[in-house]
Amino acid sequence: MSHEVPQGAHAQRPVETQEDAEPNLDFTGTTPYEDYVRADVLTHLQKPLSDDPGELVFLVTTQVMELWFTVLVHEWETAARALRDDDLPTATAALKRSLRELTALNASWTPLAGLTPAQFNSYRAVLGDGSGFQSAMYRRLEFLLGEKSTSMLAPHRGAPRVHDELAKALHEPSLYDEVLRLLARRGHPVPGAVLERDLSARYEPSPEVEAVWADLYAGDQDAELVRLGELLTDVAELVWRWRNDHLAATRRAMGGKQGTGGSAGVAWLEKRAAKTVFPELWTARSHV
Ligand code: HEM
Repeated sequence: MSHEVPQGAHAQRPVETQEDAEPNLDFTGTTPYEDYVRADVLTHLQKPLSDDPGELVFLVTTQVMELWFTVLVHEWETAARALRDDDLPTATAALKRSLRELTALNASWTPLAGLTPAQFNSYRAVLGDGSGFQSAMYRRLEFLLGEKSTSMLAPHRGAPRVHDELAKALHEPSLYDEVLRLLARRGHPVPGAVLERDLSARYEPSPEVEAVWADLYAGDQDAELVRLGELLTDVAELVWRWRNDHLAATRRAMGGKQGTGGSAGVAWLEKRAAKTVFPELWTARSHV
């Protein structure tokens, strides 16, 4: 990644580097790598609470996923803004990046996918009432997908900055709202009730929107919008995979026990995983 570091030592070298050149070892302060990556900060944020050697990978996997959630929120906010400006190339580029990032996010289940109940029990108690359910960045990610919910703000009442960011996201159009607005501007009959919906409420599927997607997919007039529909379908499928991989890991690690966050555990997660992202993009397929 040295070529991406704007003010790094490498950037100061002449363009034509000699073949026997060695890396620069001479820095007066912290290295330019550290100044950019903040690796020293990042690698001192892991504070396991038990003596169990398996806890670190649970904590780091959770932190890694939080970072991917942050990247995904950035990509989908970029895409939503670009759609608002009718800038489809920028939106498409952000969505395409997000597909690879979602794939990497999902791959990061690997270290936890085979956790046994005994292994999980070795440190479960130190988690107390802590649960991924309380992840504010995951909630922002869900809001962007149209899964809005005012009650999901409640756990964050005690953290004003997090609460305010989430409240702002709750009232902003989701990525899917921006897609539907674009379809309407392109002359497709998206109902007014959908366009003027209460943005803080969960997106409810509409038969008219389903018909718009079915028409788009059946015809060949607007290939650009069909390509957008397929990118969104890829996003939806990869989110569904994350939820199902989480469900499978949870079932293996704790069977039918209650979750640390107080829910019924697997039974609760099953209901969450059954929710469809961008619903009409799936149901429209029956009518093409
Ligand atoms: C194998 C380890 C894991 C187990 C056993 C597990 C278990 C659970 C359970 C039972 C819930 C339901 C709420 C509750 O009562 O706590 C939940 C929710 C959640 N977990 Fe995990 N989890 C695991 C790993 C992770 C990791 C690594 C992340 C990454 C951040 C994560 C993120 C979430 C999120 C975002 C929710 C809320 C889902 C929603 O609102 O639909 N979990 N987890």
